[in-house]
Amino acid sequence: MIKAVRGVRDLLPSETRHWQRVEHAARRVFEVYGYREIRVPIFERTELFAKGIGDETDIVKKEMYTFEDRGGESLTLRPEATAGVLRAYIENGFHVEPKPVRLYTMGPMFRYERPQAGRYRQFHQANVEALGETHPALDAEVIAMLMDFFGALGLAGQLELQVNSIGDRESRGIFVARLVEYLRPHRDELCGECRARIDRNPLRVLDCKVPSCQPIIEKAPSILEALSPEAAEHFDSVRSRLDAMALPHTVNPRLVRGLDYYVRTTFEVLTTALGAQNAVAGGGRYDGLIAHLGGPPDPGIGFAIGLERVVLLLGDQAGAAAPLALLIPLGDAALDRLLPAARRARQRGIRVEIGYGQRRLPRELERANRLGAPWAVIAGDDELANGEALLREMQSGEQRRVALDGLADELVRLAALSDGTALRP
Ligand code: HAM
Repeated sequence: MIKAVRGVRDLLPSETRHWQRVEHAARRVFEVYGYREIRVPIFERTELFAKGIGDETDIVKKEMYTFEDRGGESLTLRPEATAGVLRAYIENGFHVEPKPVRLYTMGPMFRYERPQAGRYRQFHQANVEALGETHPALDAEVIAMLMDFFGALGLAGQLELQVNSIGDRESRGIFVARLVEYLRPHRDELCGECRARIDRNPLRVLDCKVPSCQPIIEKAPSILEALSPEAAEHFDSVRSRLDAMALPHTVNPRLVRGLDYYVRTTFEVLTTALGAQNAVAGGGRYDGLIAHLGGPPDPGIGFAIGLERVVLLLGDQAGAAAPLALLIPLGDAALDRLLPAARRARQRGIRVEIGYGQRRLPRELERANRLGAPWAVIAGDDELANGEALLREMQSGEQRRVALDGLADELVRLAALSDGTALRP
């Protein structure tokens, strides 16, 4: 038997219900903030990611699915969406549109990471970019939208929003030099990974999770003390606007993110519920990246949400919605009457299931219970003769007669009285 590739999985019908709910919440929230959907290719030229994400990042150095196509061109399955969205922005001349240009996209990303709970080699993101505006109010607005997404799913209360500023390129250069100066004498106390990072990508030492590195990281200089006056003012302004929107947040000066394109504001949304994989979403500002990729000097800010992790957090909260009713025809004649009635109910957004008249009543009632349907509609010869069916409340077993012609109306009325789970999402 051929099995799925390690770190890549099927999303089964028992889970897709959660996924639809999460995707629906994302679309609804993004669209009220004025974001429009863009769909970009799953693979791009390798150089786009190398240039966009940064040659020295873990993603580009060790996690990309890169291959040569038959024409000898080096291509890569997208490890993230930002680089592709910016390429599309530049290539399609979006920069002439009124700013900020607000775009979102959703879909699979690919990283060759070590699989574990909440970490996969094919995973999905909902990704947002706001392009062409430097105002700190936009940073706050983007973060507010992210938290509204979690709020829409009832998750905001169990998540922590962390923010930081990693400064402008110039001030960061000065800070990195200071950091390296601090780290060098501690080289032997750091983990192997961090030792290599001192030379390659010193900022990343700050978010190493290895316990033995923590005492050294804790005493490291803070990037916030090295901000240029402009970057510091920008950060203050973002924070005061978060406060004005009553968005609780913690400042984490060690939040440096794993992609090289960030400047100024960075942020992550964290959970304690998923073990080591604690980031549910992350993002930041990346002024200069669009120009770096050959486009106009437009600034930008965005984030991506890890959808697998959101679905894990939802747990059983969004269990597969049960149908409102199982329609049980006892024989072919009844099936001919119930099938059109089922269709009328479905056209009105009511989820019903139907039997095909071949099973006996007790087995069908058992099935209604297993489906979790609160109602069953039973039609046999006696009822049909009067143009009626029996409406049975599964829990109590109470039954009453309903006219077949009015069945769809009756189901709509029952759905409105129930908690709505039988209605379309
Ligand atoms: P990122 O922090 O690399 O940012 O990824 C964002 C989120 O994707 C993470 O917080 C996590 O929830 C999820 N994620 C990442 N890797 C995996 C994985 N292997 N398995 C499951 N989930 C994962 C970015 O990708 C940036 N492009 C975000 C951004 C957009 N910044 C500006 N605009």
